[in-house]
Amino acid sequence: MTVNEQLLAYAEQLFAPEDAALQEIRALQEQEGLPAIAISADEGKILAVLLTAIGARRVLEIGTLGGYSGVWIARALPPGGRLTTIDADPKHAAVARRAFERAGVAPRVELVEGRALDVLPRLQPGYDAIFVDADKEPLEQYYRHAMRLLKRGGLLLCDNAFFNGRVTDPSDTGADVAGVRAFNRLAAGDARLVATVIPVRDGLVVGVKVAE
Ligand code: DHB
Ligand code: MG
Repeated sequence: MTVNEQLLAYAEQLFAPEDAALQEIRALQEQEGLPAIAISADEGKILAVLLTAIGARRVLEIGTLGGYSGVWIARALPPGGRLTTIDADPKHAAVARRAFERAGVAPRVELVEGRALDVLPRLQPGYDAIFVDADKEPLEQYYRHAMRLLKRGGLLLCDNAFFNGRVTDPSDTGADVAGVRAFNRLAAGDARLVATVIPVRDGLVVGVKVAE
């Protein structure tokens, strides 16, 4: 490990230790053959700190995967809080349901099985925070939906701002990395948003919606 990696591991172990439920959920995702692309514990803790800071009660997640990030989010909500999370893959949804049960957060999580681009137009605005962590090609559309659905003062969060280093490779013209670049550009330049990237893991865009 480099010195920087040692410091990050130290901070993660100290501030974001995984309890038995999170460890079992990570293992379950692996057993079930889900890709190993869930957020890290230190990223989960950043989500929890930010959601706690704004007193988030209604949160939307685009891209459930196996429910690991959803558990971090749901645990950060006050009593009566609610996470709505969307995933198109029935296998992801089945694993995530088990994860939410295991962590004891199932009563506060609504898992919507369907394509986000079909589900999002049906949702009503008023979310305190929206975490985008799904397929990358439609990210520009996810951005526009998220900005419509977020309330003023709400947090826009998006995983994979760096996309494993691909965003700065000019020879990489894939549709997925193009989606990531488009989202980053929109978030950086939108006068309705005060945004930055926290360089945790693969880069987390964090923005506050300050105007409609
Ligand atoms: C990929 C997607 C993710 O959401 C992630 O966190 C890491 C990688 C991917 O599509 O490669
Ligand atoms: Mg991701």
